[in-house]
Amino acid sequence: MAESKRLESTPASGEINRRAFFAKIGLGSLAIAAAGTAGFAYQYLSPNVLYEPSPIVNLGKPEDFALDSVTMDPNAAIYLVHIAEGFFALSAICTHLGCLTAWNQELGMIKCPCHGSEFTRTGVKIAGPAPKPLPWLKTWVSDEGELMVDRSTDIHPLQFLRI
Ligand code: FES
Repeated sequence: MAESKRLESTPASGEINRRAFFAKIGLGSLAIAAAGTAGFAYQYLSPNVLYEPSPIVNLGKPEDFALDSVTMDPNAAIYLVHIAEGFFALSAICTHLGCLTAWNQELGMIKCPCHGSEFTRTGVKIAGPAPKPLPWLKTWVSDEGELMVDRSTDIHPLQFLRI
């Protein structure tokens, strides 16, 4: 018995005794708890912000849009329309329940695939449950001569951008 106690208290080289083993387990547990606490503290102190893409869209050079054309940018959910009166941008989001509309070249109208609302290329509602026309969006030409659209700013209809 006395010999086994002596063996336990004096480990051979490369071995650890029970006290050192539990000390290492304790230190490891504290390190894991500290790392977890630091992670939660960082998460708590970081601003809880949703980063959304900019509402400003660069559509490129006006000469890329032929006269009498309706061009949809599906990523920005807008139409860029070029007619004799000038350029303008429309939201492509249906004013009924927010579906993405589509330009129908053959029929010459914008149609909503969800519940059948129809709009002229100037956004005026022709048919369907949509309560309002498609909004016109603020459009301008940048210093570099490119067409810019602000999706977050509605303007009154029939404000054409003449270039
Ligand atoms: S969402 Fe377009 S008609 Fe309903």
